[in-house]
Amino acid sequence: MIKVKKRKILLLPGDGIGPEVITEVKKIISWFNDKKSLDFEIDQELVGGCSYDKHGTPITDEVFYKALESEVIMLGAVGGPTWDNLEFSKKPERALLKLRKELKLFANLRPAICFKQLVDASTLKPEVVSGLDIMIVRELTGGIYFGEPRGIKPIENGERKGINTHTYTTSEITRVARIAFDLARKRSNKVTSCEKSNVMEAGQLWKEEVQELQEKEYKDVELSHMLADNCAMQLLRNPKQFDVIVTDNLFGDMLSDQASMLTGSLGLLPSASLGAKNKDGEMRAMYEPIHGSAPDIAGQGIANPIASILSFAMALRYSLDLDKEADILEKAVQDVLNDGLRTKDIMSEGMKETSTSAMGDAIISKLQ
Ligand code: IPM
Ligand code: MG
Repeated sequence: MIKVKKRKILLLPGDGIGPEVITEVKKIISWFNDKKSLDFEIDQELVGGCSYDKHGTPITDEVFYKALESEVIMLGAVGGPTWDNLEFSKKPERALLKLRKELKLFANLRPAICFKQLVDASTLKPEVVSGLDIMIVRELTGGIYFGEPRGIKPIENGERKGINTHTYTTSEITRVARIAFDLARKRSNKVTSCEKSNVMEAGQLWKEEVQELQEKEYKDVELSHMLADNCAMQLLRNPKQFDVIVTDNLFGDMLSDQASMLTGSLGLLPSASLGAKNKDGEMRAMYEPIHGSAPDIAGQGIANPIASILSFAMALRYSLDLDKEADILEKAVQDVLNDGLRTKDIMSEGMKETSTSAMGDAIISKLQ
């Protein structure tokens, strides 16, 4: 069993704009090391398409073992059109899925917060989204993403059949529901659990187990159940009705993309993927912006580093027990937005357009 090493941060910039945004995170980590005398040990490795190009695999064993012994992993993004036609096992995304599964990062926290400075960037009316603050808790190591049997196989009539399997067990459901209930207690105390219990047995089990857990341990938290398709609709109709949403891997993938756009830009939203705490209180965790590798703008120095920087703030909060430092960093981001600095993706009239690195520098100057 490989032990987690305290304060060891592994940077996995990945592909596309990943390296550009992780460079800014690196600057922030160095600032905390120098100015706050924190002793983060940083290492950096290839993962995704860039790893495939160099080593013929999206993640080498060496990098995987480094990930296993890191307390915090900061991931940029993986994938891009260059690698679209690779066989399944070699695709950049497999690296990400392997890290999630093998590191047992079962709880994926995806906040969707609408920054007041950017209300107009949303495609929805300002009154629908202003003040929005939702936390989506997505189950990340089960469901149809990993269920067996899976594959593509020939069948008798000469056609082919594609197979994936959706399964959930009681403990897989309750451990992620527990995370959602605990988070709700620190927020507005409301959990909405989403499934398709009207068509899927696994959805029915999901609903029953979440309900039972609430009755046993979380009576003080308000719980409602919602069909996932209705949730998709309600997110557009009246998103502020939600506090914490807990849902499975696939529905969580889709609902979190949808929720993110309520806030105007994908470039602002962080995420955390957390494992269970062991008996010494140690926990594996991976933090990443929810935007992808954005190959269309890669290499131009215009990507928004805020989602990655806020992902590091989540790492300070959830992994490193440095709430105060997380507050300072989040405040610095707010200050920079208040000053009117904008990367291209969130640019609007009267604001000052800045590059990726100028945005990172501006955030650091606010930290001082
Ligand atoms: C996400 C992404 C991934 C997923 C891809 C890149 C495998 O869409 O993190 O939401 O489907 O989980
Ligand atoms: Mg997704």
